[in-house]
Amino acid sequence: MAGEFKKEDLRKYAAAGRGEYEKVLEKIVEIPTVSVEPERKADVRRGAEYAVSLLESSGAKARIYETKGHPIVFGRFQRRANLPTVTVYNHLDVQPAEGPDWKTPPFQFVKKDGRYFGRGTTDDKGPAITALFGARYAWENDVPVNINFLWELEEEIGSPHFETTIKEHAKDFATGSVVVSDTVWVSRSRPAQPAGLRGLQGFRFTLQTGETDQHSGTAGGAARNPVTEMCQLIGDCVDGKTGRVKIPGFYSDVVPPSKREIEDLKNSGFTTRDFKRDHLFRSLRVDDALEIMKRVWMMPTFEVHGIAGGYQGPGVKTIIPPKATAIVSCRLVPEMDPRKIVRLVTDFVKERNPDVKVSAEHTLPAYKGKTTGPYADAIRASMKFAFGKEPVFVREGGSIGAVLSMEKVFKAPVFFLGLSLPEHGYHAPNENFDWGQAEGGMAAFADYFRRIGDLEPGAAKR
Ligand code: BES
Ligand code: MN
Ligand code: MN
Repeated sequence: MAGEFKKEDLRKYAAAGRGEYEKVLEKIVEIPTVSVEPERKADVRRGAEYAVSLLESSGAKARIYETKGHPIVFGRFQRRANLPTVTVYNHLDVQPAEGPDWKTPPFQFVKKDGRYFGRGTTDDKGPAITALFGARYAWENDVPVNINFLWELEEEIGSPHFETTIKEHAKDFATGSVVVSDTVWVSRSRPAQPAGLRGLQGFRFTLQTGETDQHSGTAGGAARNPVTEMCQLIGDCVDGKTGRVKIPGFYSDVVPPSKREIEDLKNSGFTTRDFKRDHLFRSLRVDDALEIMKRVWMMPTFEVHGIAGGYQGPGVKTIIPPKATAIVSCRLVPEMDPRKIVRLVTDFVKERNPDVKVSAEHTLPAYKGKTTGPYADAIRASMKFAFGKEPVFVREGGSIGAVLSMEKVFKAPVFFLGLSLPEHGYHAPNENFDWGQAEGGMAAFADYFRRIGDLEPGAAKR
């Protein structure tokens, strides 16, 4: 049994490593690994290559695994084959970052009062580097575990090649358990232990009724307007004010929360005021805290991400556009089958407007995780050790495609040790991470690996 770690030693370790941590985060944030943009392909590759060199310079064995899309980075602190292996999952690809709301350039690393700004700082490069530093401490202190790093570069596009690639190399990636660091706390004072994730089914609706713009004076009244029809279709699918989905059967597989889950929500420390402040909302559909938590963590949605079509410039240009597009997705909850949702939505759209083409995009089923047993207990204890507070049970509203794939292919349980905060601004302009979460995170990870070292191999499956 490895001796317990001391908080003070980890504080010193973090303080001594802070300069290096910031340098590494700067390097990786300044590589614009935007997986959805084809013209960034070489940057994504450069990000993967940098990650391999970083793992190697930390003393790990590391290499790239090719996929049909962007590569996967795999690293390993190998102690002995008969010891437990734990895999840390993070993603190093990021969301696009454009728009006028960035106060500093998105791919420039800016350090200000212990906060780190730039696309990917909190989602998910900061947590990835934090976990690596925590692992390094455990490694240098001879903790009896093998630690694998699985760093994906296609998470933000729905992990399209992840499952086939890890299946292909299942032997190399074999592991007893997985810890994912890609989730959000309720607030800075409330570490969270997610008991699940929502899933996602994406769609693109397109409607073409002509070939080119036409004068709305000469044709208006008789010509079909695809933008207007698209708006009506969206309104048929969902009530814009309440968010209630109007497609018959949409809610039929939703499992209502148990009494226990409601209690967990009530004890989570979530407040409407903080939620509004952290996300810069002016008003919400509902103000009751419990109702908000149920809606974002436990209920499915139908969301329009963007509608395109027609004139967007200054003044009024009196045309009838030929085409409209809507990008839509449904968040899903456990027990909902994404294929059934594709069928329900496609059939409904066809019935309401047969000329609209529906293409299904990302498919990510929801995930219900384990919150009991030795590994979940170890996560809670390590969070308490590092941050001074037991995490509260929540569910997460977001989706991570790789989670279900890892559980399925590795036949190993997946746990969450997230470090991001609501105010860090996932996917938002001015995304940031901070030293407090990094420092605590290093201690939490180091301590977690130490605890796994104390469990015998196979404990994860009990
Ligand atoms: N880290 C998020 C997932 C997440 C979001 C967890 C909020 C907890 C709370 C992840 O990087 C993400 O953004 N996933 C996408 C996947 C999609 C683009 C296929 C998502 O949830 O929209
Ligand atoms: Mn993420
Ligand atoms: Mn994300």
